[in-house]
Amino acid sequence: MKIDTGKFSFGVLTMSDKGSRGERQDTSGPYLVKTLADLGYREKAYSIIPDNIEAIQKTLISWVDDEKIDIIISTGGTGVAPTDVTPEAMTGVIEKEIPGMAEAMRAESLKKTPNAVLSRGKAGIRGNSLIINLPGSEKAARENIAVLLPALAHALDKIQGGTSDCGVG
Ligand code: MTE
Repeated sequence: MKIDTGKFSFGVLTMSDKGSRGERQDTSGPYLVKTLADLGYREKAYSIIPDNIEAIQKTLISWVDDEKIDIIISTGGTGVAPTDVTPEAMTGVIEKEIPGMAEAMRAESLKKTPNAVLSRGKAGIRGNSLIINLPGSEKAARENIAVLLPALAHALDKIQGGTSDCGVG
């Protein structure tokens, strides 16, 4: 049976020092919002925040614990620059890691650019919610989310205790 994406809410969180100061237009966040909305997921939040561990953790925890957002996609801050701290913030937020999601994104991305190895993004679960880190550029966000889209609804169903058959859909 096909899983109804309309029962899942989503949030998109852009990590960018320049974006949060209004010095760079965020195109990755809006791209992700449109992509998930077009698939039927319900938009509940979109925000741009600086590359700051406390700010990232505070937002993620509040979106999961208070807002009960089912899936949060972040973009940016996964790389190796001194300011990139998204993966470090994730370690105090997620309760279970899903290494296969990040591994798949990096493996597919490596077919597009050797720089794919520089993304340290994670994916994991907090409560009943799924949190996925994507790299920051719109191109990288587009290429990475495309890898996971086919598995998202089934992942959310399972995380929330669904009993749908793993062999179908
Ligand atoms: N993955 C894909 N598919 N396409 C890309 O263009 N860019 C890479 C990498 N992953 C890229 C990609 C680059 S250049 C960097 S520095 C890292 O993601 C981390 O990006 P971030 O620091 O913006 O999160």
